[in-house]
Formats: sequence, C-alpha cells, structure tokens
Amino acid sequence: MGDNFLREHAVYQIYPISFADGNGDGKGDLKGVISKLDYLENLGIKIIWLSPIYVSPMFDFGYDIEDYYNINPMFGTMEDFDLLMEETKKRGIRVVMDLVVNHTSDHHKWFKEALSNPESPYRDYYVFKKGKKDEKGRELPPNNWQSCFTGSAWEKVEGEDNMYYLHLFTKYQPDLNWHNEKVLEEVEKIICFWMDKGVYGFRCDVISEIYKESYEDGKKRKIGDPVGSEHYVATQGNHDILKRIRKDVIEPRGGILIGECGGGITPEDGIKYLQDELDTFFQFDTQLCYKNGLSSKISMKKFKKILIEWQTKVDYNGNYFENHDQHRSTNKYVHGKHTDIGAKMILTMLFTLRGVPFIYMGQEVGARDYPKGLPLEECSDCVTHSVYKLARDKFHAPKAFSMMMARKNGRDDARAPMAFDQSEGYGFSALGVKPWQRYNPYSETYNYEAEKDDPHSIVNYFKKVNQLREGNQILIDGKIDFLDTDDKILNYVRVLNHEGYMVILNLTDKKVKYPYGFERIEKEHVLANYDDEAKFLRPYEARVYKINKKEEK
Ligand code: NOJ
Repeated sequence: MGDNFLREHAVYQIYPISFADGNGDGKGDLKGVISKLDYLENLGIKIIWLSPIYVSPMFDFGYDIEDYYNINPMFGTMEDFDLLMEETKKRGIRVVMDLVVNHTSDHHKWFKEALSNPESPYRDYYVFKKGKKDEKGRELPPNNWQSCFTGSAWEKVEGEDNMYYLHLFTKYQPDLNWHNEKVLEEVEKIICFWMDKGVYGFRCDVISEIYKESYEDGKKRKIGDPVGSEHYVATQGNHDILKRIRKDVIEPRGGILIGECGGGITPEDGIKYLQDELDTFFQFDTQLCYKNGLSSKISMKKFKKILIEWQTKVDYNGNYFENHDQHRSTNKYVHGKHTDIGAKMILTMLFTLRGVPFIYMGQEVGARDYPKGLPLEECSDCVTHSVYKLARDKFHAPKAFSMMMARKNGRDDARAPMAFDQSEGYGFSALGVKPWQRYNPYSETYNYEAEKDDPHSIVNYFKKVNQLREGNQILIDGKIDFLDTDDKILNYVRVLNHEGYMVILNLTDKKVKYPYGFERIEKEHVLANYDDEAKFLRPYEARVYKINKKEEK
C-alpha cells in the first residue's frame, strides 16, 4: 500500500482552533488557515491535515461530530472551505480531513433520535445494551469495559429501565455500531461528499477500535490499554470494514486513508492494515514508553528498542513525535537544557526514518509546552479534568499530585495558539484580541519571524530536513538498516540502488563516543545540527552523511 504523493511528502497537521484567527474572535478558523497558506508553501508543505472542522459542540474539540456535512460556524462557512480548496490547489497543497467515525457527538441527530425513540432505525446505529445485576440486585453496566478517558465505558440511559449505551471516550461521544451495514453506508456517503469537494483523503480517528467483536468482560490490564480493548482492537471485522471502504469509495477516487491505530496494536496488525486498507498509520508504542508511570518524559532507551521494532517490521509507518494529543517533543523526548539542538535532532530523525513524516503545527519553530503548565481552571481539555477528578475523588491524591497526573495526560499544552511573529497576537490573532487559550510565553522566542533570518534557527533547520527528503528516492523508498550501538545512539542507513545515507543521532543530553569512528565513514556531510565536527557526539547531536553502499558498515 502507499499512495505515491503521500510517500513523497510530509504531512503538516493543523489544529484549527489554534492555528490562525481570521475574524478576530480569538479562535482559529478557515479564513485564518487560508491567510497562512503562503507561510506553509514557503515551508515546503505539500499536504495539510485539518483536525475536525465539522459542526460540533466541541466538548472534545471537534472529535465529537454533530453534523458531518457542515462546517462548524466557529471555523467559518462552506464557502470558506471551498475557497480553501481552491487556494490550496493553486499552491499544489493537498488537504486531508479528519474522519471521526468510532463515535458521533451525543448532539448528532442520529443519537437524539435513538434516545427519544427506541423503535427508530437510528437506535441500531449505536450500541445500546441492558445492564447486569449483581447478587444483591444492584445494577451494573453490561460489562466491565473502561473508557479510554477514565471511568466506565457505559452510560445509563435516563428514563429507560437498566439500559446503557457504549462510549469508549466521553459519555458525550456515543460509539457507532459497526455491525450495522447502514453505518458503513452513511460513512461511505460522508467520504464521497468530501472527496467530491476535492479533499485528498482522511486521517481516521481511532480507526483500529471501531468494530467490537464481542461484549464480553475484558481481562487485560496492560498500562495504556483500557479494560475491554482485546474485544475491539484490530479485530478481523475492523480489517474487513477498512478493505470495503477502500474498495468502495477511496480507490475509485484516488484518495488516501491514514489510520490512527491506538489500543496497543502490534506490528503484525500494522502489516495487515497496510495490505489493502490504510496507506499509513500511527501506532502509540513510541509515544507511551515513559520513564515510569509518573513521568511525562520518554525513556529513550525503551524508545529506541520499540522504534527499531516498528521500523524493521512494518513497511511504511506514519512517523510522528507531536500532535494535538501529545506534549511537545522538546518536553517529552528531549531532556535537560539542550532543547533547541534536541528539537533539530528529533526533526532529523523524523525526516530520515522510513515512512511518512507527520509534523504538528509549531513543531517547525520548536514550540514548547507552557513553562509551568496552565492552572486547572484554564485547562479546556476534557482529559485534563477527568484525570484530575479521578486522582482526587477515587484515589484521594493530594492536589499537587493530581495536577501533575492531569498535566501528564492532559492535552492543553500542544493546543496553545500558534506563534508566527512577534506582534502582540503572535500573528495568530490581532492586537487586543483575547485568544481562546492563553498564549504560551515561549511564543516570544519560538516564532517564525524571530527565526527566519537566523541560519541556525529551528525553522531553517526544518526547511533543510524537509527539503532533503523532498524528491529524494533514497529517503522515500530506501530500505532502513540499524547499526548495533548502545542505547544512547541511534544509527541507521537508508539505502537504495547502492546509494545511501548514514544517520547518527545522539539520543541523550550527554557527550557520547561513537563506536565506529567517524573517520571510517567515506562521507559527504549532508546535514548536522552542530556547525563543526568533534571526535565524539555532543548532546543530541545529529549527523547525516551521504554514503556508498560498500561503506555502509
Ligand atoms: C483521538 C484524537 O486524536 C483525540 O483528540 C480524541 O480525543 C480521541 N481520538 C477521541 O476521538
């Protein structure tokens, strides 16, 4: 699998509410996106992915869709969308939409109808089940499944006897019933509607979890996998549905599908997804290998092992370090004080690994998490609040600890408004406008205007790595082989037709010795995040050399 255009270009993710405010209400919108297309073109971006812009109550910031066929008035109108399609086309940029079909919003007319009239055909669009009773006659949900966002995955239906509906995320996001052929038909209709408007394809939200194979109690209790997930992650039914969608509506229109495949999928599942279902996908293993359960920092030792496994087993990964659900890579993967160099090392890895590089808005300028986080009352993410509540109410944890856990799991940091320049609104919004979420003080330093004329800036480094990969068949198609080094170094070669690149990355903030000796590499230095060369690798040093295959080892 793998559409050529997607293989050849990085994808730039836009989180619309925080990208650019075109109408001065403090929230990003489609007019704002249009106003920044020259910026994106100048960065060399060829594909953008828009997080959901459909009508939504925004409880989960658009990942709760009320109407799949209309634009959220907060983001503009269908005319704005059509203009976006025209303007992107002029610049040779393709647009990927987010497709959220594991669940809808509870405001969706299908769900409202399902609730108000149990006899309606829409009842079977969702998963309604009778609860159980324990030996004392007390009511229990239909099974022990947990929501990915804490608590039971079942919500009791008010006014009905012992009846529940399933929600793998919040109770405002009821799960669709993918056993119902009608649901598939509706989703195919939605896909066609947007593809006929010219979109290139879809990033499919939690797509590995849509088909529930059984409703038995869950047994697995692995960190990161909610109870019950063995009954719905990467099921055969899920594979069959994706094959069907691909064949029915994606292939005939020349579109693409990018899967968000959570729930602990294995590389073997990933291989299947790439056969005739998805063009590429995101796994979560490389995001979840924290130093320990309390830390929000990644253990680079664990990361290296997991990354090599995915890179070696799976043909074309969707590689990413950041998105709207994660902390900034400079906070999560880079430890210590060398964060600018670290940001460049991460970018080097992202653009030289095998697979599609996904970049999240702001990553190109080295955006950071808020220095001290946001106070709870300023956090808008539902996960931040549910984790805090769980820690306080269920575990009676002290406030500071609860806040620490909420901040680790919460997603407010990466959702700060973008910083393009040094004006009062950082080019996100106009002077005097209060942004929907507080500006990050780091915007002062990490913004395009401040960096554009500095040859050493992160954004100029970003342009170089992006440029290096553009049209570069070795980096696009070349195989990847990892050299044996200790945990502190990641060393690989990308080779195609006897030509290749050697990439050497110091994954730590310490000085380390490179075991093979640089003098052994018959090299042409292509890219590095330090100006000069040293005999050892400095903190987060990244070097890329052009090599001939015989010098590979
Ligand atoms: C994954 C999305 O990236 C996240 O933002 C959302 O909350 C969940 N899926 C539920 O839709």
